[in-house]
Amino acid sequence: MDAAYKRVNGDHGPEEPDTGRRRRGSMYLEEETSKKSEVISCIFSLKEEVGALAKGLRLFEEKGINLTHIESRPSRMNKDQFEFFISVDASCAQALDEVIDSLRTQISGHVHELTRNKQKDTVPWFPNDIQDLDRFANQILSYGSELDSDHPGFTDAVYRVRRKEFADIAYNYRHGQAIPRVEYTAEEKATWGTVFKELKTLYPTHACREHNRVFPLLEQYCGYRQDNIPQLEDVSRFLQSCTGFRLRPVAGLLSSRDFLAGLAFRVFHSTQYIRHGSKPTYTPEPDVCHELLGHVPLFADSSFAQFSQEIGLASLAAPDEFIEKLATVYWFTVEYGLCKQGSEVKAFGAGLLSSFGELQYCLSDKPTVLPFDPAKTSLQKYPITEYQPVYFVAESFEDAKERVRKFVATIPRPFTVRYNAYTQSIEVLDNSQQLRNLADSIHSEMDKLCEALKKLD
Ligand SMILES: [Fe+2]
Repeated sequence: MDAAYKRVNGDHGPEEPDTGRRRRGSMYLEEETSKKSEVISCIFSLKEEVGALAKGLRLFEEKGINLTHIESRPSRMNKDQFEFFISVDASCAQALDEVIDSLRTQISGHVHELTRNKQKDTVPWFPNDIQDLDRFANQILSYGSELDSDHPGFTDAVYRVRRKEFADIAYNYRHGQAIPRVEYTAEEKATWGTVFKELKTLYPTHACREHNRVFPLLEQYCGYRQDNIPQLEDVSRFLQSCTGFRLRPVAGLLSSRDFLAGLAFRVFHSTQYIRHGSKPTYTPEPDVCHELLGHVPLFADSSFAQFSQEIGLASLAAPDEFIEKLATVYWFTVEYGLCKQGSEVKAFGAGLLSSFGELQYCLSDKPTVLPFDPAKTSLQKYPITEYQPVYFVAESFEDAKERVRKFVATIPRPFTVRYNAYTQSIEVLDNSQQLRNLADSIHSEMDKLCEALKKLD
């Protein structure tokens, strides 16, 4: 059985951040997990005068309250005042009550506003900058060299050592570095060659046109050949020049949340090892054949790249139940998607395009094929060790993207996010300044569009 593996599933969330807070755009959000103690936050205002804050902070000190966080800003209500946002551990609740009373009485007239919220339902952590993806390197669900007993390479000591070499590359990789080049062995190249040769015969008739358009470019510029396993660094550079997508090596399976978060930054976590040579047409997990032959060609297509990023952006700060739904949408599109092209149906999912057997099966009359509808697709159960009994067919990448956008709008999140490609960071659109910046940017783009349309006329 070919390509039977689970790419993005798993319930592990990211490792607990050590600081308890992460910067997101221009603001700070409290993290909350079951492992963390509850936090109490207050906002109060003081008149802008010398020593006012020192007086206030002394009250906290006298009660032995350790402030875990403090921010200040000019008051929006009164330009003569400053607002202070502070957080303390919930175990200090009683002492905090006393400080609040003292703020009101001892600094009488200086306390303009005092609110207090127990932050129970705050959002899950998500990477803010592209460098934050480095945190995922040590958060894989399975180590790349620890193989299950039914893995074809389980009893092969040499293969296991090799897998550890690849895992170590991924562990040590950091954003901005070149992906280390690998000297593949003759046996590894032979395995690749078998897979490459078989699949290439099917692509003209079974793969979507976007895949077939890009594949010759990969042969021309990235060393895609039967006798050569392309280097991730070369492929990543090619993708960056096409759509801004890039590869980064990963040691094993990431959680759904982490893996999808990478897509938000147009980063695809790619394995670098190859399946065991004893079974070239089978792999129980993603390998370099799956990534390079299945995924890479589509990430060079601008519409597909945008579609993939939409799923990634939707996952940021999404509740766990929606992460599972998005991972399922990802499964039935990026991994196992079909799409209409003219009067025909073609494959665009990487799990299909890297599986000689399933690529033929998916376009036969054996499986059930349903229209892609994220609300329904996200609920579809699926097997991970056999061919899919159900596939979903998209009208086009554009149509799929629109449908995903509408679905994403149903995800309960306290804010909207967008990716800023200039800063390679996520912007949280939850304040007027962010919205003004976005409006300015759109305005500028619209001006260019109108000007270009006039010139076309
Ligand atoms: Fe995959």
